[in-house]
Amino acid sequence: MCGIFGIVTQKEQPLGQILTDAAERLTYRGYDSVGAATLSGAKIDLRKDVGRVKDVAAQYHFAEMTGQRGITQLRWATFGEPSQVNSQPHLDSDGDLVGAHNGNVVNNVELRQQFMAEGMTVRSMNDGESCVHAVERYLNRGEDFIQAIRHAYHDLQGDYSFVIGRINDDKLYAFKKGSGLVVGLGEDFTCVSSDLPSLLPLTRKIMRLNDGEIITLAADGVELHSVQNGCLILREPETVTETMNAVQKGGYAHFMLKEIHEQAQVAREVLNMLNGSPDVAAVIEKMKNARNLYFIGCGTSYHACLAGAVYFAQLAGRAVIPVLAPQFAPQYAPTVGAQDVGLFVSQSGETKDVLNALQVAEEKGMTCYGLANVIGSTLTKATVCALPLCCGYEISVPATKTFTNQVVTFLYLAYRLAGRDTAELETIPALMTQTLETVAAPVEALAQKINAWSDLYSLGYGATYAIALEGALKLKEITYAHCEGMLSTEFKHGPLSAVTKGLPIIFSVAPGDVPLIVSGLNEVTCRGAYAVAIGQDDPRLRANASDVIILPDSTPQIAALLAVLPLQLLSYHMSLLRGFDPDFPRNLSKTLTVD
Ligand code: M6R
Repeated sequence: MCGIFGIVTQKEQPLGQILTDAAERLTYRGYDSVGAATLSGAKIDLRKDVGRVKDVAAQYHFAEMTGQRGITQLRWATFGEPSQVNSQPHLDSDGDLVGAHNGNVVNNVELRQQFMAEGMTVRSMNDGESCVHAVERYLNRGEDFIQAIRHAYHDLQGDYSFVIGRINDDKLYAFKKGSGLVVGLGEDFTCVSSDLPSLLPLTRKIMRLNDGEIITLAADGVELHSVQNGCLILREPETVTETMNAVQKGGYAHFMLKEIHEQAQVAREVLNMLNGSPDVAAVIEKMKNARNLYFIGCGTSYHACLAGAVYFAQLAGRAVIPVLAPQFAPQYAPTVGAQDVGLFVSQSGETKDVLNALQVAEEKGMTCYGLANVIGSTLTKATVCALPLCCGYEISVPATKTFTNQVVTFLYLAYRLAGRDTAELETIPALMTQTLETVAAPVEALAQKINAWSDLYSLGYGATYAIALEGALKLKEITYAHCEGMLSTEFKHGPLSAVTKGLPIIFSVAPGDVPLIVSGLNEVTCRGAYAVAIGQDDPRLRANASDVIILPDSTPQIAALLAVLPLQLLSYHMSLLRGFDPDFPRNLSKTLTVD
């Protein structure tokens, strides 16, 4: 997830260190490139490149930068590979404007063509540059800055925030549409940033912006305008008292809980990105014509592959072979070739098991695509094309938002392969929010009820089989209990003998599978198990389960996706009840770069 920061002061002064420090405070969001620009009088000083803040700042001597205004940006690549030219901030055609954004402009490809056709100089592939040209377009027509931004706002589709400045002006301008933007007010400066923590060392007097608002920053104060009608908005600043650590967690007790609650927003972002991606059509075409299609990953990412394989079969009638990455070489490599396509899935893009499988597949001539969160990672560089997960930095070791965005991406690809209208998927973010609201209290109560058990089962069927495995992994990972994830119908083939009075068995249920699951519920409840059903409201589940966690109504495929949210929350609460830190479970690391 990118981050932006801008500052306006009274007169020209050293700003390089202030910008570097602000960039450092944004690094927790994840990034691959960094840039800084200062403005004073008719001069813009712009320095940027791929790399760590400390390295780029040292190489380009950020500390020497002076200005009356400054902008810094951390880039997490989505449009355009990580490179110096795609790094932000960006200039307009004449070098009079400089700006940077955070988020995704989903019509970037069309906009770039328009700008070039209108005679503007487009230097990069990056959508942050499109934000600058979108404003340039209306300034060139003689509009004032606020008018130009209002028009640009309507041209730039997607979720983003943006900060921009012009030579021979003494202000910065920023606007918000979907991505976070907070304003800071100091004694003789004002500043703006993607998030609150990066402002806190400078000031505690802040103003939060809403979507559709434009902020004009001057050294002695700010002015807020509505994009809709251009009218002035009056808002009193607030004074914040939280610590930096608490603020970085966004008010949540743990990163895991924060990341669970970010799922609706990142799902919206990945859907926007997929709608605007020029790569999706090519990937779909290749998949259509493939002899065999493999989805390959480890751990949570493998579970997403399993869900994806069911979606592809159910929606597009396309068989897919989901593979645990280390099993690819012994089980499939001897049979694959140039007619086959592999989609390699990894949050980090650095998992050695996945990279090993990729190497074997490439040696066999397979077409290899990536699906990764960390753009610029080894996986994204080594594949023909890698789709980004658009989740920003996932700090907590247990994967949550990256799993749901992997599943959302598979669902989207299945829809596209089937030629179905993907508009139906736009309901997902709101359904996720609704799910998190409605399941919060019952899941916390369930955690209390079953926490004493150190043996549990998590069962599912069809697409919820993947969800059951993922729920079991989350429970194992952060509660240290043994939780076995299984296909529900397999339970009677052996594990049934383990049932004793009160044994917790959780069933994740998609609508359509209820009759089958009712049998499973009865097989275990008649032997004394405590059977929990996670599914849409259905009298048959209420009548046959010991406990039900109700999901909002949706399609069978979306219902499976939603079922993972209560399982994530259940593992989180059980981890806390056991006195563990869910963010950093013992023995585990976020990225496994070993065999
Ligand atoms: O970065 P990757 O997605 O390739 O990581 C694969 C697994 O190590 C990872 O999903 C692991 O299972 C998670 N920590 C589970 O929450």
